[in-house]
Amino acid sequence: MDGITPGIYEYEPETHTLKKTKDNDQRESLAQAALNQASVSQGVIDIVITAIYEKTTAKYGERGIRYVHMEAGHAAQNICLQAVVLQLGAVTVGAFDDEGVLEVLGAPENETPLYIIPLGRPN
Ligand SMILES: Cc1cc2nc3c(=O)[nH]c(=O)nc-3n(C[C@H](O)[C@H](O)[C@H](O)COP(=O)(O)O)c2cc1C
Repeated sequence: MDGITPGIYEYEPETHTLKKTKDNDQRESLAQAALNQASVSQGVIDIVITAIYEKTTAKYGERGIRYVHMEAGHAAQNICLQAVVLQLGAVTVGAFDDEGVLEVLGAPENETPLYIIPLGRPN
């Protein structure tokens, strides 16, 4: 991708920007944490949706867990819809080792990975 070097980028919602948190192509490592699924290693990018449950349960109690999962579903669906608009392929991947994914991301332990969404050009 033009202007974007390989690595891990964190989405910053306040400024709607990406912050680079790790250098180098991490797709192979991410795929290893995801049962070596080819879609994860071969996607042009992998979008990982993680949750911080406390942010929502602090306001809504235990029901917040349900809301987090609903919102992750909405976000994932929007990514899939946008992929269609851009004529890209997308896979929603839920089979992975949570701790392994967090390690690759360099994300703190209070985050729970919920989705990996590889995106790429269909063959
Ligand atoms: C929540 C969820 C998790 C999924 N996890 C995986 C997964 O880990 N690996 C996978 O190949 N497909 C997974 N799927 C299915 C794929 O997203 C996709 O539907 C499937 O690969 C069929 O795609 P196709 O109809 O384009 O062939 C998951 C689907 C959902 C809804």
